[in-house]
Amino acid sequence: MGFRKGFLWGGATAANQFEGGYLEDGKGLSTADVMTNGSHTSARRITYTMPDGTKKSQPTFPFKSIPEEAVLECHEGEYYPSHQAIDFYHHYKEDIALFAEMGFNCFRLSINWARIFPNGDDELANEKGLEFYDNVFDELLKYNIEPVVTISHYETPLALTNNYGGWLDRRVIDFYVRYCETIFNRYKDKVKYWMTFNEINIMDHMPTFAGGVIKNDDQSRAQAVYHQFLASSKVVQLGHEINPDFKIGMMTAYGSTYALTCNPEDELKLMKSDQQRHFFSDVQCRGVYPEYKLKEYERLGVKLEKQDGDDELLKNGTVDYIGFSYYSSSVVSSDKNKTVTDGNMSTSILNPYLKATDWGWQIDPVGLRLALNRLQERYNLPLFIVENGMGAIDKVEEDGSVHDTYRMEYLARHIEAMKEAVEEDGVNLMGYTPWGCIDLVSAGTGEMRKRYGFIYVEKDDNGDGPLTRSRKDSFYWYKKVIGSNGEDLSF
Ligand code: BG6
Repeated sequence: MGFRKGFLWGGATAANQFEGGYLEDGKGLSTADVMTNGSHTSARRITYTMPDGTKKSQPTFPFKSIPEEAVLECHEGEYYPSHQAIDFYHHYKEDIALFAEMGFNCFRLSINWARIFPNGDDELANEKGLEFYDNVFDELLKYNIEPVVTISHYETPLALTNNYGGWLDRRVIDFYVRYCETIFNRYKDKVKYWMTFNEINIMDHMPTFAGGVIKNDDQSRAQAVYHQFLASSKVVQLGHEINPDFKIGMMTAYGSTYALTCNPEDELKLMKSDQQRHFFSDVQCRGVYPEYKLKEYERLGVKLEKQDGDDELLKNGTVDYIGFSYYSSSVVSSDKNKTVTDGNMSTSILNPYLKATDWGWQIDPVGLRLALNRLQERYNLPLFIVENGMGAIDKVEEDGSVHDTYRMEYLARHIEAMKEAVEEDGVNLMGYTPWGCIDLVSAGTGEMRKRYGFIYVEKDDNGDGPLTRSRKDSFYWYKKVIGSNGEDLSF
């Protein structure tokens, strides 16, 4: 009973949110590097310059298209949280030692594409960038921590956006394949678990995050994600050729959704919302576009530009497992007058049965069990919860301690739900990596105060702070959870 032997316990991060060193050792800019900070009430902005020199910016959410002639770049006087983030670039030994102390046997991180190919379309890889990840992987392996690598986590090289329009251009597929071939060959004996795109379904409403795309219309988003599907399929096949032991997964943002009432119209709304959520996993797990999406494209007048051999490629490059993030659930209604709250990247009608975090994300452990079952029933593939957690404001006591009972409570209830899904429902779950195991920059708001970590990092929303690391109460708790393979959740 309980979690299997060798269950993967760890934590999750992304390069643009924790690495810093944004121009060090030959790294190029990525889309994340031109995103300012924001807050719960004001969205992060993307900064750009028009041909006449006018400096402008555009909120990331809700996102309107940026003019094609604009050049995305950093502006003086703006604060860009990714530039230093929490400086894992220079703290990786210290941070990995702390992960090892908690008993991690895996750690999820992303490779920053622009560290390896600074412009995205370069012929040759940046050796210094490759060396950095060699060092990180070696350090992890020294402690028997298995790296779990996201190949692209909101980190499209900026030059691909400025010169090609990001994933809207089919040539980007080849650049991505070159990047993957390089990292697969280089790290084939160090990394076994890969994911091709973080939260690929974010393309639905945040195309710049998801693919460096600045045009936000139905046709552009559909075409861009089509290219990502093809690229993912290509590299799944390529990866298996390079090392047949590779496990290459997809990654989707997933939450359970409920109908507000048993009014059949609400149920219909729920069915449609479920289709939207499953579209990305349907393609990546089944290798074919679902009928409901093709009909939707017809209605919208979306026409995918395809080439011979594409259908076969999609069919032959389905993924080995499903990685997903789960933070909260949502509610839909056919009544257009129902108020939807904005929680940065996560919007929903309020569920009267649930409490929410300070950022309005509704807390729903049962929803995680439902999610695991739905994915298992639909695809029958191994599942990996690669993000989960609650963003919260932590109070540091005079002695430096952080009594984060709310975090332990949230995680304990979700681990319980996972356990029920495994023990009672027979779900095939590979592992669990809570998000932001060390405090890092929030993707949605750019804040530091929205903290997820077991490890506190001293830095504020203005970018000030000595970056000192310290253990919160949840650090010791998670260590006990891992040590008991999820049996002891008490706090
Ligand atoms: C997911 C992303 O959307 O949620 C992460 O994959 C992100 O990059 C996480 O950080 C939590 O969201 P936020 O906005 O609280 O950082």
